[in-house]
Parts: sequence; structure tokens; C-alpha cells
Amino acid sequence: MDIKERAGFTSKFGVIAAAAGSAVGLGNIWRFPYVAGENGGGAFLLIYLLFILAIGVPVMLSEFTIGRKAQRNTLGAFRKLAPRSGWSIIGVMGIIAAFVILAFYSTIAGWTLEYIVKAVSNSFQGKNTDILFENFKSQTFFPLLWQFIFMILTATIVFMGVQKGIERYTKILMPLLLLLIIAMCIRSLTLEGSMEGVKFLFNPDFSKITFNVILEALGQAAFSLSIGMGALITYGSYIQKDNHLPNTAIQVATADTVIAVLAGVMIFPAVFALGMDPQSGPGLVFEVLPKLFMQMPMGYLFSILFFVLLAVAALTSTVSLLEVVVAYFSEELNMSRTKATIISTSMIWFFGIFATLSFSSLKDFTLFDLTIFDSLDYVSANILLPLGALLIVIFLGWKFGKRQTYLETTNEQSIPFKLFRVFFFIVKFIAPIAIVFIFLNSLGLFRFLQS
Ligand code: PFF
Repeated sequence: MDIKERAGFTSKFGVIAAAAGSAVGLGNIWRFPYVAGENGGGAFLLIYLLFILAIGVPVMLSEFTIGRKAQRNTLGAFRKLAPRSGWSIIGVMGIIAAFVILAFYSTIAGWTLEYIVKAVSNSFQGKNTDILFENFKSQTFFPLLWQFIFMILTATIVFMGVQKGIERYTKILMPLLLLLIIAMCIRSLTLEGSMEGVKFLFNPDFSKITFNVILEALGQAAFSLSIGMGALITYGSYIQKDNHLPNTAIQVATADTVIAVLAGVMIFPAVFALGMDPQSGPGLVFEVLPKLFMQMPMGYLFSILFFVLLAVAALTSTVSLLEVVVAYFSEELNMSRTKATIISTSMIWFFGIFATLSFSSLKDFTLFDLTIFDSLDYVSANILLPLGALLIVIFLGWKFGKRQTYLETTNEQSIPFKLFRVFFFIVKFIAPIAIVFIFLNSLGLFRFLQS
């Protein structure tokens, strides 16, 4: 596509809505509670918040900077800013990560569609919702069908293009989702026995911290903010020249974090009040929420609205994942947008079948001792994204350089960026050292520190 034809976001709120739409998704509402639950609650939350602020926001701003400067897709951006060099490996890794994430993300996104149908048909009332969930996820046909439908929905929006597709819906629906979550937090907190859940989430038990917990927190921060794979480089390339990137990064990260923490407040008090297990893994929210709805006035209405909005939140994230791959295919391999969308959607859908079948009764889909689903989830969030983030900050700090970064983040010095020095110091030194240190430790290289 010729650069002049590149569609941009039309308004400031449009950019924030689209980037926040990418960030806010199943990562906040499905993944955050289940990973926090498995990793000890409060201590995990604290490290997660620290990583959002100290690493996540700087990486997000780095991605916006690279994207807007280059006006290209993830791989094209590195090819343009550092021609004929090895840096384009970052773009290649990003495309692989988008592929892998979308393959398993679409499994869970499909579940949200099934839950819309269950909500509409009032299937939770009077049922054992654990068994209901168990029966559904172990099937073969319906989980695959819903995943397929979700991929088609994603492809349709990507096909319609950035402006008409993404911007329009997120502006209204994301704030609505926030309101609904707040209402559910109130119900969860007023259940008898809910305080145990509040303690679990907000009282850090430092004895629970291991290097694996730290890596999980870093991975969750990256996953939730959509950083480390160039989704935000691609979106950055659509941001207009007068937008102040540092403010946008802060606003997007704040929206994302508020929703994740509220999701925790919605889930954990209910988990404890209803005598459930915080460590129940990827099924956690699908088991807890129906029980919560049954205890709410107008629960029927709430459940429909909630699962619809959850599906929309997932959709604005899957769109950004698919856009990474489509922008690459169409701009670098000179395909039409239609062809690029069809080819990449089919490839990802095929791959995703194996993720979905990990939950089915045909359980032979395992790698090492994890299911294919768990392996894709773990490897992408805890390895691919932090590695991508590492390379992106090294690129900005050491190759793109201070001067160019300064000019891009201040809109050619027309808007001040007071914390520029702090930002650049983090990008150049702190973030790379921290990520390498966490990686080496989780590989067990400094075992003496772990005792
Ligand atoms: N941030 C999304 C979520 O929290 O659901 C998931 C995601 C989207 C990850 C886009 C990475 C990405 F590039």
C-alpha cells in the first residue's frame, strides 16, 4: 500500500480507544485473574503493577515512537529505520507472536460466544455451572465452531480497515464494559465471606515470590498491554503527527490496568465467598461469573450484557493481532488486503484448532507435560513478548537513538515531554537489564538467589 493511502485515526480519542481496545481484552478479564490466582494473588499483583509502570509504559511508548516514525507495519518499520540490518528479526518475531497468540486466544474468545448463548437461553439458572463449563469445554464440535466464527468476525473487521472497523465500536463499548465490571465488583464484594478474596488480592504474601512468579508477572504485563510484538508499532503507524505519544501511552496503560485490577476485585471475593479454588486455571472466570450472576438482581440481563461486552473486548484485541499479520502480508509481500486477510486468517485458524482441542476429551494434544494450549499461552506471554520487548528497547535506546526519540516524542519539540530523560534511561539501561536478569533467573542460572 502506498504510504499516502494509509488510513489514520481520525481523533485523539479514536487512537486511545483503538490502542486501549487492543490492550483491554481477555488478558485482563480472563487471563489476569487465572494467572494471579495460580501465582499467589497479592504478591503477584504488586510485581505486576511495578512492571506495568517501570517496563510496560516505556515499551509501549517505544513502540508508538517506532511505528509513527516509520509509518509501516512491524517488519517494514525495522526495514525502514535500519535498512539491511539484523533488526528486522524483531518484526519477524512479532509476526510469529501474533500468530501464536491469536491461535489460542481465539479458543477463549470462542468460549465467550458460547456463554452469550448460554446467558440468553438462561442456562445458568438452577444448574451446576462447573459441570456446565466442564461439559462444554470437553466437546469437540462447538468449541471449534465458535472459534471459527470468532476468526471470521475478526477477519471481517480487519478487512473493513482500521478507521471504520476498529475506531467506531471501541469508543462506546469499552466505557460500557467498565461500568458493568464496577457493578459486578459491588455484588462480589457484598457477598458473605468476600473479605478473604480481598485479602488474597491485596495482601502480598512475599514468601510466594519465586523467579517464576516474577516472570509470569512480566509476561502478564506484556500480554495485557499488547506490547513486545509490534501490535502497537502497527497502530503507532496510524497515529497522527500531532498526537502526544507519551500521554497516549499513559492513558492506554492506565485504562488497561484499572480494568485488570477491577477484574480481580470482581473475581476473587466471589471465588472465596462461593468456596471455589483460585488456582483453577484457564476456566476460572467461566466458572465463577455464572454463579455471580445468579446472585445478582437482574442477573439474567447482566449476564447477557457482560458476555457480549467481553466478546467485543476480545474482538478489539484479536483485530489488533490479525492486523499485525495482515499489514505485513499486504505491505511487504504486496498482496491485496483481501488476499492477505483470507490467507492469514486461514493459517491461524488451522493452527488454532490444536489449541481448542487441548480441552477436548481427545486429550492427546500435549507437548512436554503441558497441553498445546498451555504451551502456546506460556511461551508467547512469558518468552516471546518479553524477548520482543527487550529487543525493542535495545533498538530504541542503542540504534534509533536519543535525538530521534526526543524529536518523535515531543512532536519535533513542539510539545514538552518532561520525563524524557527518565524514560530514555529506562529504555536504554533499566528495562533491558531487568528483562535479561529475569530471563536468566527463570532459566535457573542464578539458583543461589532463589532460595
Ligand atoms: N492485550 C490483549 C489482552 O489483554 O487481551 C491481548 C493481546 C493483544 C496481546 C494484542 C498482544 C497483542 F499484540
